[in-house]
Amino acid sequence: MKGIVLAGGLGTRLRPLTSVTNKHLLPVYDKPMIYYPIQTLVNAGITDIMIVTGGSSAGDFLKLLKNGRDFGLKHLNYTYQEGEGGIADALSLAEHFAAGSPVCVVLGDNIIENNICRAVRAYRHQGGGAKILLKQVSDPQRFGVPELEGRRVVRIEEKPRQPKSEYAVIGVYMYGSDVFEIVKTLRPSARGELEITDVNNAYIERDEMTWDELDGWWTDAGTFESLLHASTLVARTGANKMDAVADSAARTAEATVGK
Ligand code: DAU
Repeated sequence: MKGIVLAGGLGTRLRPLTSVTNKHLLPVYDKPMIYYPIQTLVNAGITDIMIVTGGSSAGDFLKLLKNGRDFGLKHLNYTYQEGEGGIADALSLAEHFAAGSPVCVVLGDNIIENNICRAVRAYRHQGGGAKILLKQVSDPQRFGVPELEGRRVVRIEEKPRQPKSEYAVIGVYMYGSDVFEIVKTLRPSARGELEITDVNNAYIERDEMTWDELDGWWTDAGTFESLLHASTLVARTGANKMDAVADSAARTAEATVGK
């Protein structure tokens, strides 16, 4: 399984912080924001990673991350998104990198307290389709929100005024290589973007979507409030924590299978 971190977009909600730099290079407590999603993938044993970035400070990612030594990696892949065509547009740029493998996609401003080892393991056994992770939140209107019937997600709405559940679809997605064909069928939404929620709804319509609930806290960091909240959470409890025995076994298993 390959890993993709989406760190394009213009970060307009954080101006003037993002006037001369990319949102994902801003600090979240003691590290640049992009460190957290990369660590999320590495902790799940996913070490073949591509960063999709954009904007005028894309070269700074190379200066900061180099070949991924801070994460124990030997290599990192990079690509460039022109403009702000949406999350699914950014994902489409990784098609040649995925080269037929399943992918785990993490949004560059999503930070988690724990890890995704269990979900990645479950997805491997699923043998195709998609998996998303849900988290109960107090402000679902800000996110993709699932409508649930028992264990089944019947539809996801992007930033609904009247959310059909109290869950957010977090920015960690697992897809088969068919995701790139799905992205090619999308049309831009009202906000002019190719939406990841439309990708997820395509899998739901095919009855090929599963979900798990994430444990521990989750936050994005794309607004002033959530950026501050993210720093506070990381300072208080730390992020990307591993459950020593179970998770390191999962990581080793994933790394072995992924070779
Ligand atoms: O954080 C989870 C939420 O992320 C989901 O619940 C929503 O369904 C999903 O649409 C997304 O919502 P946002 O409106 O918060 O996404 P945002 O535009 O802030 O983009 C999130 C990340 O995706 C951003 O940090 C970098 C990447 N991105 C985004 C866009 C628009 C790109 O790489 N390229 C882009 O063109």
